[in-house]
Amino acid sequence: MSENLITVSGTKEEQYQSLLPQLEALVQGESNKVANMANIAAALKTQFDFFWVGFYLVDTSDELVLGPFQGPIACTRIKKGRGVCGTVWQNEHSLVVPDVDAFPGHIACSSLSRSEVVVPLIDQGRVIGVLDVDSDELNDFDEVDQRYLERIVSLLVKTGT
Ligand code: SME
Repeated sequence: MSENLITVSGTKEEQYQSLLPQLEALVQGESNKVANMANIAAALKTQFDFFWVGFYLVDTSDELVLGPFQGPIACTRIKKGRGVCGTVWQNEHSLVVPDVDAFPGHIACSSLSRSEVVVPLIDQGRVIGVLDVDSDELNDFDEVDQRYLERIVSLLVKTGT
């Protein structure tokens, strides 16, 4: 496993292209998903300096619990179907939210968060959690983020426990 993350400047696509093989190498040698989530959150924060990046994990049949993350402290529990994360869990597909204030039921863990992208972690056909990335700028995410973040979480679900 490489112990140093190589960061690059460039377009968003170039940044994800640089990050992806490094993340692949990083998670390959570790079968514990929480450890891999922690490093993925740290790597995304380091490369992009996202305002908040982290995971919510399915804890009970109707509740997510906060997992590994980087950024300000956050809400610890989110009900299924509530907020962006709970909606992604329920609908099992990613959401790009350009303006969180325009999303009905958005959960404001921080009043500074303005836009958000959330992708589900689907393991053997069932959602085991979500990856949530928040920005303090409006309209900061698009289908490029969605596509690469989906690839990143797919690396994760391939790893063991
Ligand atoms: N905004 C999210 C809650 C999680 S925080 O942004 C870290 C939501 O509406 O689900």
